[in-house]
Amino acid sequence: MKEATAPLRMAVIIGSTREGRVGDSIGRWFAAHAARRDDLDVSVLDLAGYTFPSTFPAVPTPAMRAFSAAVATAEAFVVVTPEYNRSFPASLKQAIDFAYDEWQAKPVGFVSYGAGSSGLYAMEQLRTVFIGLHAVTVRDGVGVDLLDGGVDDRCMPYDTDEREQAITTMLDQLLWWGLALRTARAARPFAS
Ligand SMILES: Cc1cc2nc3c(=O)[nH]c(=O)nc-3n(C[C@H](O)[C@H](O)[C@H](O)COP(=O)(O)O)c2cc1C
Repeated sequence: MKEATAPLRMAVIIGSTREGRVGDSIGRWFAAHAARRDDLDVSVLDLAGYTFPSTFPAVPTPAMRAFSAAVATAEAFVVVTPEYNRSFPASLKQAIDFAYDEWQAKPVGFVSYGAGSSGLYAMEQLRTVFIGLHAVTVRDGVGVDLLDGGVDDRCMPYDTDEREQAITTMLDQLLWWGLALRTARAARPFAS
């Protein structure tokens, strides 16, 4: 398939690495929805699957290199983030900081969740981080409140019309930006 018409390579980044986390349920629920679309080629980057160093080393470790290579390969991202104390978790920021150019001129969407706020504070703070990386965040996200009865006992979100619509809206925006920026990156180097 020609690059211009190939499905957009979209990575779903599962940001929580907490023992007992629900992030994997929510991330995989979302990834399964996204994978139903034939205009997206979906992969999952689960941060719990990487053995990152506890301090930032002078020389990137194999896990750091593997993560930034996966970011380089992807053309768009959906970050699945919980809210911790009105922000996103340290595990996510650590991984984001392991790449730089690899994020540039690519779109980012969000699936956020939390106990009370649907993770909206975390999502809005992540926008600032991605602006710093010359990425483009899409306006509409998917928010899951873990306390409103909309998830099962494993914190897997129930499928509702409202949620399906939120996912479609976000992915349509991500696809638009992803295809536009694919063309733009191929036409000229980014003006960083
Ligand atoms: C350290 C910590 C701080 C939290 N702070 C918030 C918060 O500010 N707002 C919120 O809605 N939920 C908060 N929660 C609830 C989490 O969003 C909820 O436990 C969620 O399951 C965490 O995601 P995870 O299980 O994937 O790690 C917090 C949880 C933890 C562990």
